[in-house]
Amino acid sequence: MNYCKANLLDLLAIEQLEKDCFPTEAFNRRLIKNLLVSANTAIFKATEPTGKIIGNIVGTTKKENSTSVGRIFSLCVLAGHRKSGVATRLVQLLEEEFCLRDIKKIRLEVCTLNNVARAFYERLGYQVMSDILPHFYHDGTDACVMVKRLP
Ligand SMILES: CC(C)(COP(=O)(O)OP(=O)(O)OC[C@H]1O[C@@H](n2cnc3c(N)ncnc32)[C@H](O)[C@@H]1OP(=O)(O)O)[C@@H](O)C(=O)NCCC(=O)NCCS
Repeated sequence: MNYCKANLLDLLAIEQLEKDCFPTEAFNRRLIKNLLVSANTAIFKATEPTGKIIGNIVGTTKKENSTSVGRIFSLCVLAGHRKSGVATRLVQLLEEEFCLRDIKKIRLEVCTLNNVARAFYERLGYQVMSDILPHFYHDGTDACVMVKRLP
């Protein structure tokens, strides 16, 4: 598996990956394009030797009270490629990128029903916060917030 930053040439492949992984919440083409060109965003992709993108992670940064906070905006791996460490590597790469950008705190939202993702992030040191975001997703489900502090 090859891991590197995504660029505009990956737009259609990432759009398809999103559709395959998130039936009701896929990012649309315009949003993906904006993210790919934004200086406040980093997108890493996992690619098979054939060149096919099978996973990606989208991270954004923003200033909050004079500190820069990172956010994992999206993470997905195609169903047939899960449980082999792809997402773990993508999170590591994004955390390294956030460190380079002097980020001390990473936040993400995960569906309260998505036990797989929650357990996955907990294993990587993310902690569930008490706040619940009601009706966060298009299908009406709630999200919980997870946070990790970087050294
Ligand atoms: C959540 C998601 C990104 C995890 O991707 P993944 O590539 O399967 O993740 P990893 O392989 O790095 O780790 C998953 C599990 O496989 C295990 N694993 C990793 N390498 C392994 C290997 N070689 N053999 C067996 N198991 C392995 C890990 O221990 C981990 O266990 P855990 O779930 O108990 O933490 C993936 O399930 C997904 O895309 N889901 C749909 C979208 C989604 O829910 N995204 C997150 C919310 S935004």
